[in-house]
Amino acid sequence: MHQPYETRYVEDRSPGSGRLAPRAAFRSDAPVVGLDGAWRFRAATGLGDLTAGFEDPAFDDAAWDRLPVPSCWQLQGVGSPAYTNVTYPFPLDPPRVPDENPTGEYRRDFTLPDGWPAGRGVLRFDGVDSCFAVWLNGVRLGDGKGSRIPTEFDATDALRPGRNVLAVRVHQWSAGSYLEDQDMWWLSGIFRPVQLLSRPEGCVEDFFVHADYDHVSGAGTLSVDTTGPAGLSVPELGLVDADPAGPHTFAHVEPWTAEQPRLYEGELTAAGERIPVRIGFRRVVVEDGLLKANGCALLLRGVNRHEWDPETGRTLSYETMLRDVLLMKRHNINAVRTSHYPPSSDFLALCDEYGLWVVDECDLETHGFEQVGWRGNPSDDERWREAMLDRMRRVVERDKNHPSVLMWSLGNESGSGDNLAAMAEWTRSRDPSRPVHYEGDRDSGYVDVYSRMYADHAETELIGRGEEPPTRDPSLDAHRRGLPFILCEYAHAMGNGPGGLSEYQRLFETYPRLQGGFVWEWIDHGIARRTADGRVFHAYGGDFGEPVHDGNFVADGLVLPDRTPSPGLLEYKKVVEPVTIGFGVDGGKCVEVRNGHDFRDTAHLRFRWWAEDDGERVGDGVFDVPVLAPGERAHLPLPELPPCKDAERALTVVAELAAAEPWAPAGHEIAWGQTVIAPAAPAPEPGRVLPAVSGRGGRLTLGPAAFDAHHGRLLAVGGLDVGALRLDLWRAPTDNDLLGDRVADRWRAAGLHRLTTKVLDVAATGEGLTVRTRAAPAGADHAVRATYHWRSDGRSLRLDADIAPEGEWPCPLPRIGIGFSLPGWIDTVDWYGLGPGEAYRDTTAAARLGRYRHTVEAMQTPYVRPQENGNRRAVRRALLTGARGGLLIGGLPSYDLTVRRWTSAELDAARHTTDLVPGDRVHVNVDVAHHGIGTASCGPGPLPQHALGAGPVALRLVLRAL
Ligand code: GAL
Repeated sequence: MHQPYETRYVEDRSPGSGRLAPRAAFRSDAPVVGLDGAWRFRAATGLGDLTAGFEDPAFDDAAWDRLPVPSCWQLQGVGSPAYTNVTYPFPLDPPRVPDENPTGEYRRDFTLPDGWPAGRGVLRFDGVDSCFAVWLNGVRLGDGKGSRIPTEFDATDALRPGRNVLAVRVHQWSAGSYLEDQDMWWLSGIFRPVQLLSRPEGCVEDFFVHADYDHVSGAGTLSVDTTGPAGLSVPELGLVDADPAGPHTFAHVEPWTAEQPRLYEGELTAAGERIPVRIGFRRVVVEDGLLKANGCALLLRGVNRHEWDPETGRTLSYETMLRDVLLMKRHNINAVRTSHYPPSSDFLALCDEYGLWVVDECDLETHGFEQVGWRGNPSDDERWREAMLDRMRRVVERDKNHPSVLMWSLGNESGSGDNLAAMAEWTRSRDPSRPVHYEGDRDSGYVDVYSRMYADHAETELIGRGEEPPTRDPSLDAHRRGLPFILCEYAHAMGNGPGGLSEYQRLFETYPRLQGGFVWEWIDHGIARRTADGRVFHAYGGDFGEPVHDGNFVADGLVLPDRTPSPGLLEYKKVVEPVTIGFGVDGGKCVEVRNGHDFRDTAHLRFRWWAEDDGERVGDGVFDVPVLAPGERAHLPLPELPPCKDAERALTVVAELAAAEPWAPAGHEIAWGQTVIAPAAPAPEPGRVLPAVSGRGGRLTLGPAAFDAHHGRLLAVGGLDVGALRLDLWRAPTDNDLLGDRVADRWRAAGLHRLTTKVLDVAATGEGLTVRTRAAPAGADHAVRATYHWRSDGRSLRLDADIAPEGEWPCPLPRIGIGFSLPGWIDTVDWYGLGPGEAYRDTTAAARLGRYRHTVEAMQTPYVRPQENGNRRAVRRALLTGARGGLLIGGLPSYDLTVRRWTSAELDAARHTTDLVPGDRVHVNVDVAHHGIGTASCGPGPLPQHALGAGPVALRLVLRAL
């Protein structure tokens, strides 16, 4: 076939041709033509299917479709998204890519505005995935790779007055794809904005702001390197049209930190333009083995953020970016790692403004080479050096003026090799003011912080103590041992979880070397899809027919795809709260408040308290706390309270914003502490009503309850029918149960999802009714004996269940308790216990004692892949009600509760949220305990103290119909 175009660049390791040198991203008052909007588009199947003459301005594209720019074409109905974590979706044959190489041909015209200044015209592409070539008015300007990094071309000679025609060809696969094996959807197209920028004569091409802060003297030093003559004005600092190079020193400036992101508004003025600059003074160093900003060791409370929107993929609106920043700030997050590529510049500007420390990561990952023992890994192949250096240069040059950028990261999971070392070296020489990060080189030879992912608690503690095993290369050991440590990824937030956050935080707060970490990850990358009847669900790997995929491993965020905070985010907010309020001092006679901010005192907070007896408020007020400096603590007397009678009394103290901050309104809660001052009075022993055999159908009655006389099965309480009350050990496995050490496989192998019950004995005694049962799976001799002692005072029913495993138990248990069903008209749960959200034994930090009310629907957490969820812990009392009455379940003293409209088996079988269809019963589990959640989907399982071993337990309840 006639091949009208030179397409060798696609499989060429070179980063591109015809491109301009990388430089800072900035906006100025020089004219800009925005080129976003509907472009003409044709989807070609590969390089053999290109449209001849498509770049010709006279080409007739009227029959072509339209495609929005920016967008990811697979989310506009062109081709399909595909998800793999590590595996490349094409053979490892670098730099070659498949012949089936979906290629988008894009065309649009635009009018050059009148008065367009003399000087250069620059065409800027902020992000094109993965490789592209550009023609303006039929003139080829060049080609580029590096999907999430800008590329600029000089358009001057090709531009003409009036109508101009731009043609861009974008290839899904290219040599660059080998450097872009991040764990995410493979998506293609012009997915970030395109602009034509005027670069007037005399303009500033590039500038580098150096704004240093001396925390000892409080002085600031400002100097701005510019590529051409310019004046610098910062009115607040008294600078007017000064020489940008300075250096200008100021005896006193307010520094920039993520906690107080002080920006000074300035302006660079050159002959042809004015450029607003926002200056943040700060100094970041690694010193004495610690990562410090402005003289203070940081504690990073971070998240890894991919750019994601469930409808538009990696094309994000400004509102969405702002939403992420506000959500992070409101959840006590102070740092973001831009995994695993630089985000839109707008996001970094928001981090500057609202205050988040940023680990800015290069667009680089070659993880799939690990699957062939790192053979052929580009990181260690000189032929890729220029492409890798080019990526790093473009990131550093683009983002160097953002005060929020704390460190540069070379990329992710790209093994090790000289090219990485060269990237580090170049970075350090270009910007000595920021440390270099890269996790993949375990010996940390060319980085400034020791970084790891998913180290378990024990190993993290060892590193905290400085007792980690030596480096592979002995000559690097001393260097690494002298570095601060961060977990660049930990606490894998896939599905229900992550568990174990509190224990990590305790380590971070104990060992100065441990400077915090970044939860993996911020958002579930689910893709919004609709069922035939219009219900929305979120698709994951495999839903688009991909031959190779990694399922729902792409849905592992602290927020659901639609950015609803998941229970994991609320847990994280509580665990990392920058103020702690405790009661464990002075024999519980006082409140300890500690300011855990790195920089900020507590003057911006106000404290309030309230006391509740059995969840009823009995007092509240302002809690006086003196202003505490960072790290300072105060012991304060408990508030005066009225006497407490026969009730459980809880005291809660909260810290909230005294006045609005840019990221949250006044009254926004930052931190809280709670203690039970007086325990509940012991429950009275129930009076006795003896069981009676009723006239009809072999029924036994005991007070308000009816039993099957034969099997001793509870049938009804006060006329409310109760279905299939039985011992239950099974939960629909969470992602953390299924992956890693795969405890769910052991549960299934042990038959916990298919227990059958044998009734051993039903006896009416002088006390009431005693039913002895043995539950066991087919083919096994391990079992659980449950003896139910039922008693009644005539009004309520009391259950004392003694549960004891028998035989050899091969695994911990998912849960232990009883399950039963109630009529489907039950629609509301009121409870007194921990809440309001979901909690499991190692995800309980955010739950506090109180009275709560939810619909049955609101008790559920709609994880992208359905799984066990919605447990409420330490429930003292719950009322399950509907139009026709209900059931009270009292705990002696408390229990775990889930209530849902489907069974655990249905939950287990569902692949997407829309597979769950309410049945005509409400299914209730009342548990003594659950197995912990952990984070085994990537990382450690539940800590030993959170494992549910098989052992004897007792469940004590009172049931009453309402
Ligand atoms: C890490 C990787 C991330 C992600 C995570 C698991 O190894 O850096 O990109 O794949 O594991 O979700």
